[in-house]
Amino acid sequence: IWLVRYRNHILPTMEVWPEGYGWKKWFDEAETKFKARPDDLYIASFPKSGHHWSFEFVNMLYQGNAHSVNKSKLNNFFELRTIKEIEDMPSPRILLTHLPYDLMPRDIFEKNCKIIYIMRNPKDVCVSQFHHVSGIAEYKYDGDWDHFFKVFLKGEVDYGPWFKHVKDWWKLRQEYDHMMYVHYEELKKCLPAQIKRIAEFINKTHDEQMYLNIANACTFEAMKKNAQFKELPGIFKTKEGSFFRKGQVGDWKNTFTVAQNEEFDKAFKREMEDCDIQFTFD
Ligand code: A3P
Repeated sequence: IWLVRYRNHILPTMEVWPEGYGWKKWFDEAETKFKARPDDLYIASFPKSGHHWSFEFVNMLYQGNAHSVNKSKLNNFFELRTIKEIEDMPSPRILLTHLPYDLMPRDIFEKNCKIIYIMRNPKDVCVSQFHHVSGIAEYKYDGDWDHFFKVFLKGEVDYGPWFKHVKDWWKLRQEYDHMMYVHYEELKKCLPAQIKRIAEFINKTHDEQMYLNIANACTFEAMKKNAQFKELPGIFKTKEGSFFRKGQVGDWKNTFTVAQNEEFDKAFKREMEDCDIQFTFD
């Protein structure tokens, strides 16, 4: 109901654009009019992999301080803005995207733009996406967990299938030098070291103390408390709805049944056979 098929991918149809805009127009303009800039930074991920989190600390690295970013992630959401709005953004632009690799406008690669791809183990992604889709009113989704589990494995969720999204972006490292891959679980394990690694990649290095300060400002608790992030309060069905739910590694164990776990492992093995990424599931 909330999804549309576009060139073998499933995209959400939430009405975020102005009147007269939609995926077709967005992609037409992205392919014919959009001009990437060499100093653009793209933060790409499958939904629920740590996008808000990365946006916060990357902005702090750009700012050179640990002050929370005073803007909504949605302002910088590549495919949810019109191409004209993106053109009007001042440089350097930090653009967030969930687009699968093959739907990204080619000019980005021609201009050698840097791209950070954030990944998270798919069991936690699946549970997180279930809560996201169930919690946001506009999705009008009232399926239960068992139903969502099945559609996730079939790939019939926003930007699905997860397997193809991750594999295609991962393959890119062999032919494109301006990629960096970041695991959600590594961010959880040692945030200051990961922030430093990212700072080096984007040429925004600071002293060690700054990485610690930024990491402290970007804990789950700090970000959940932060008023700026209570963006779009009307979009959730209940007042407890939030983009900051639990922020843990291994939370899937509270939701998956034993049988679901076995089914998921089988699908993972089959789908990821030709892919050497290692995920941490707990
Ligand atoms: P959960 O639903 O498992 O809690 P995205 O921003 O890509 O939509 O990802 C959302 C997921 O990242 C949610 O996962 C959210 O709680 C988690 N998250 C957001 N900020 C975080 C932080 N500072 N530390 C850890 N996890 C965070």
